[in-house]
Amino acid sequence: MYHKGKIYIVTGASSGMGKGCAQMLLDEEAIVCGFDINEKTIDHDNYNHFQINISDEDSVKSSMEEIAGKYERIDGLVNAAGIWGNSKPFYDIGTEDFQRILNVNTVGTFIVSKYAAKVMIPQKRGKIVNISCIRSRIFRGNMADYAASKGAIVSLTSAMALDLAPYNIQVNAVAPGFIYTGMTAKSFDDPAVRSQSESMIPCGRIGNPEDIASVVLFLLSDMSDYMTGTNVFADGGYHIQK
Ligand SMILES: NC(=O)c1ccc[n+]([C@@H]2O[C@H](COP(=O)([O-])OP(=O)(O)OC[C@H]3O[C@@H](n4cnc5c(N)ncnc54)[C@H](O)[C@@H]3O)[C@@H](O)[C@H]2O)c1
Repeated sequence: MYHKGKIYIVTGASSGMGKGCAQMLLDEEAIVCGFDINEKTIDHDNYNHFQINISDEDSVKSSMEEIAGKYERIDGLVNAAGIWGNSKPFYDIGTEDFQRILNVNTVGTFIVSKYAAKVMIPQKRGKIVNISCIRSRIFRGNMADYAASKGAIVSLTSAMALDLAPYNIQVNAVAPGFIYTGMTAKSFDDPAVRSQSESMIPCGRIGNPEDIASVVLFLLSDMSDYMTGTNVFADGGYHIQK
């Protein structure tokens, strides 16, 4: 067990991949602090829920101070909170609507990482795993806001990795493909959408949160100490096609 007794923060812990990561860490006997704008959906003695908006700097700062005060360290952070875009061509997206997507997906990740890093730097050890997306590299129409927010996550990951390398803190991203979560359930419950999506995935199936959580747990573990600044695709092979 690589994670037993370790202290982790997981954003987006009330649903989908964040919840999958939190549950897998709890199964490994870690202590998990979940940040989510929604109520808690995990009942476990080692789970602490913080119902906050990750874009609200004051809430993130005070939650991080509470965690650092209680546990005196943070071993790892998973930035999984995120929202889908407005699903329109970029020229029809209102500027405030565009900013709202970046404010959660990109600025929220920046804010939580900043305050976690301030705890990790003096301990000279830590792991940060950001959830990017295949949409950071492979695009379709009507996703300029979401794609921009996820492309920024890939750049942010590499830049943060350089800033934190001298402190023995590794920062990596995981780029999921099509995963069945709260964000996508409505689409994938439609048999036509599901089979069309599956036909585009070499492995032939939609992923589940555990498919992503297992990669995240590897990146949180000592097994990945020589990896930093990378964006690891976990997409059933989707991105290797033309
Ligand atoms: N589902 C997919 O196919 C897929 C693919 C690639 C990447 N992603 C990314 O994975 C991440 C997780 O998404 P998911 O599919 O598990 O979605 P989800 O909707 O199931 O879970 C996202 C969680 O983030 C929380 N959240 C949203 N805004 C927040 C905020 N401002 N502050 C705090 N919490 C907030 C939500 O309440 C929810 O619990 C997202 O960044 C998403 O963009 C999803």
